[in-house]
Amino acid sequence: MTAATPPAQSPSERRLSARISAISESATLAVDAKAKALKAAGRPVIGFGAGEPDFPTPDYIVDAAVAAAREPKNHRYTPAGGLPELKSAIAAKTLRDSGYEVEASQVLVTNGGKQAIYQAFATLLDPGDEVIVPAPYWTTYPESIQLAGGVPVPVVADETTGYRLSVEQLEAARTERTKVLLFVSPSNPTGAVYPREQVEEIGRWAAGHGLWVLTDEIYEHLVYGEAAARAEADGRSASLPMVVPELRDKCVIVNGVAKTYAMTGWRVGWIIGPQDVVKAATNLQSHATSNVSNVSQAAALAAVSGGLEAVATMREAFDRRRRTIVRMLNEIDGVFCPEPEGAFYAYPSVKELLGKDIRGKRPATSVELAAVILEEVEVAVVPGEAFGTPGYLRLSYALGDEDLVEGVSRIQKLLAEARD
Ligand SMILES: Cc1ncc(COP(=O)(O)O)c(C=O)c1O
Repeated sequence: MTAATPPAQSPSERRLSARISAISESATLAVDAKAKALKAAGRPVIGFGAGEPDFPTPDYIVDAAVAAAREPKNHRYTPAGGLPELKSAIAAKTLRDSGYEVEASQVLVTNGGKQAIYQAFATLLDPGDEVIVPAPYWTTYPESIQLAGGVPVPVVADETTGYRLSVEQLEAARTERTKVLLFVSPSNPTGAVYPREQVEEIGRWAAGHGLWVLTDEIYEHLVYGEAAARAEADGRSASLPMVVPELRDKCVIVNGVAKTYAMTGWRVGWIIGPQDVVKAATNLQSHATSNVSNVSQAAALAAVSGGLEAVATMREAFDRRRRTIVRMLNEIDGVFCPEPEGAFYAYPSVKELLGKDIRGKRPATSVELAAVILEEVEVAVVPGEAFGTPGYLRLSYALGDEDLVEGVSRIQKLLAEARD
């Protein structure tokens, strides 16, 4: 040991485990919290940070929860893996929306999509196992992989391909340690949607190399433009295990009610996978959290067994806002935003603006640019650093039309002042 090396601490002197201290705060939630705090202090802040629909949960779903709250059987523990009637309804919904037939025993109901992702990686990964993570990525993925002992291997797709990766890029990232490919379409943060042919190509590549796939389908119903036309023509979204059936034994789907039914606060998601994986993940959940709140499960049951009318109405509003925000962002010199086809995010490149003078400041990174935007015009956006790709901003368009136009107009005016 050299003199410069601090003496090793005894276990009791180490306040936090190395594993947990390595986890960073969710940057998206942090931006949202900052915007909400400024708003609460009376500032006219407009927030583009939130990853949640601005609509209330539909009444028939809330009514089901109210009725469930009055039933004493729901005041008790229920099976850790989910209410049997909800698991069956999720299997039926999967058949309806993806054409994929699964047993109720292949479903695990979790505390939101987030817990589904944590448990899926905890169940699949051993220390050192690599997971290919398409970047820009949603902030939670690398943390959940690392907590499970795995190694995230980001592979970056940029705006020139609409943030879609090619098989060649994936192949270049594959090593002998690769166990899982993470696949997310529609994507948070970019809104990119892979067309069926590309889903098939990627799925065949993964199957050909014996890889596992974790496919996050949480935004499946929020597609627009070409992607919506393709889904309509096919009668369903292009779900990996349907498009590439040979993947089924090594495929885990993550999904939930949060985005489709405006239910982010209810905390219900799920995993669908091979029986052994679901059984093992259920064992983990039985020790970690037990069953998801029965009242929320009753709400989710009403959601997944009902129709898709409410999401159709939301989708219309999101589509209108999407077109407005993309047009207005692309009107700004130095900003380029490819058209997102899904979810509710725009992900413009701001690389050309970095280093320019904006009201006496010279933001050199997208973190600094986001700070200038918040300070100068009170608009909250999330910098690309949060998603593994500096030089970009993420703007959620899940906010009212008037606020959206006002917020982007403020950004337009500010960035028009950028000088060399
Ligand atoms: C891509 C993606 N997957 C999963 C989730 C998890 O959603 P929840 O935990 O609210 O169900 C989110 C939420 O932002 C997301 O963007």
